[in-house]
Amino acid sequence: MSAVLSLALGKTYVRVFALAVCLAGCRSLSQLAELPETHQLLRQTCRDFADRELSPIAARLDKKHSYPAKQIQELGAMGVMAMEVPEELGGAGMDYLAYSLAMEEISRGCASTGVVVSVNNSLYIGPILKNGTEEQKMQWITPFTTGEKVGCFALSEPGNGSDAGAASTVAHQDGDEWVLNGTKAWITNSWDASATVVFATTDKKLKHKGISAFLIPIPHPGLSLGKKEDKLGIRASSTANIILEDCRVPLDNMLGPRGAGFKIAMQTLDSGRIGIASQALGIAQASLDCAADYAHKRTAFGSPISKLQAIQIKLADMAVAIESARLLTWKAALLRDSKKPFTKEAAMAKLAASEAATFCSHQAIQILGGMGYVSDMPAERHYRDARITEIYEGTSEIQRLVIAGQLLKEYQS
Ligand SMILES: Cc1cc2nc3c(=O)[nH]c(=O)nc-3n(C[C@H](O)[C@H](O)[C@H](O)COP(=O)(O)OP(=O)(O)OC[C@H]3O[C@@H](n4cnc5c(N)ncnc54)[C@H](O)[C@@H]3O)c2cc1C
Ligand SMILES: *[C@@H]1O[C@H](CO)[C@@H](O)[C@H](O)[C@H]1NC(C)=O
Ligand SMILES: *[C@@H]1O[C@H](CO)[C@@H](O)[C@H](O)[C@H]1NC(C)=O
Ligand SMILES: *[C@@H]1O[C@H](CO)[C@@H](O)[C@H](O)[C@H]1NC(C)=O
Ligand SMILES: *[C@@H]1O[C@H](CO)[C@@H](O)[C@H](O)[C@H]1NC(C)=O
Repeated sequence: MSAVLSLALGKTYVRVFALAVCLAGCRSLSQLAELPETHQLLRQTCRDFADRELSPIAARLDKKHSYPAKQIQELGAMGVMAMEVPEELGGAGMDYLAYSLAMEEISRGCASTGVVVSVNNSLYIGPILKNGTEEQKMQWITPFTTGEKVGCFALSEPGNGSDAGAASTVAHQDGDEWVLNGTKAWITNSWDASATVVFATTDKKLKHKGISAFLIPIPHPGLSLGKKEDKLGIRASSTANIILEDCRVPLDNMLGPRGAGFKIAMQTLDSGRIGIASQALGIAQASLDCAADYAHKRTAFGSPISKLQAIQIKLADMAVAIESARLLTWKAALLRDSKKPFTKEAAMAKLAASEAATFCSHQAIQILGGMGYVSDMPAERHYRDARITEIYEGTSEIQRLVIAGQLLKEYQS
């Protein structure tokens, strides 16, 4: 262990965990009670990085809407931008529990940086790693290893988000090329990305079974970006339309079989939700950290407000919401790491963690009083950042539908 610890001080620290994680191997329920040492070390490394590099600049990034290019590059060097990618392909070769821990700690420092990390890992790399050919993995994953490039995931459209199967972007074959037409909406990372996975209909009559996935470099002829959305929160990440007008790509740029796009998208989101749950946990934890610290320091009626039971009860409720959502999130990650079904648990984790983030950030503002409402303190940013976690990668309503769908299946037969 000491060898790993001392290496952790170097630049390539996260990569050295990979082997140790494989050796640790045992993915059991006991990890919910106590993380393996390797994972504890990773968590601490990411926490230190967030405290040193992210927390101090998060407010400025938010205010200026500026992309954390330098920090993302450093996270790339640590292996955090391609956590699950095998080392042969230039990644960190780690598991999803590790990814969840890293996402939580990074988001605790800066939730915008968190979403940039999550989109590169779960939404961009995820489907290529799972459903790409060896050539596609080499072309779309490996060469980006300088850590300067990020990817994005384009499923939603202006006219349909929750109902993604109704997507109207089309792709038709013309000789040895696919030609894509349509508008994708709300695409995270789009202004900063070097490639995107795009979902488009190849057979309109087949509805969602006619959707296929495509890989498109950015920039590319026929692909343009809409204006940057002016968002409530996660303002340091870019969100914009991707507009495709006679956008031509070689036939080889189809990801997975023709018509498998919707399935690939849903499977990608199952995993992605563990990442967003972790992002939400980070925001919730940051809210609690800020509130508990303030409660000790602020006095009213002659003593610290932490002595008031009204405040204590709020802090206790926040801690319970966070810890239960964290256990759900780790359970979903552990199930995925053991190659067991995890759709229901990932939806539960995302629902619980995003609602915990909304709740905790709301309570934190209340505990801070007036100071909660101004940007001198981070509470108002957490409140704004938290809100999106109940919307993207499936709204809370959609998570409930996913959970109920899985649940009712269990009661059949
Ligand atoms: C900042 C940001 C970043 C995003 N990043 C990406 C990205 O990178 N890639 C991408 O593809 N998309 C992205 N999205 C899109 C996001 O996933 C969608 O906004 C989300 O899925 C909801 O779709 P919608 O906005 O069309 O809302 P709608 O689907 O129109 O939903 C409106 C309301 O109706 C409810 N509703 C809809 N259907 C049902 C139902 N069957 N039962 C009950 N309630 C229902 C919803 O829960 C919601 O409350 C992003 C969005 C934002 C705001
Ligand atoms: C994508 O790959 C995964 C893992 O290899 C597999 O389980 C899944 O069925 C594939 N999806 C499609 C739609 O082919
Ligand atoms: C994003 O993922 C790609 C694909 O694995 C990787 O090569 C790249 O380095 C990642 N981006 C950053 C900034 O690290
Ligand atoms: C999906 O959205 C597009 C616009 O983005 C719209 O043209 C299309 O009609 C919508 N599909 C359905 C089934 O509502
Ligand atoms: C795609 O859009 C262009 C204009 O942007 C149009 O000329 C072309 O006919 C469209 N193709 C299809 C298949 O819709």
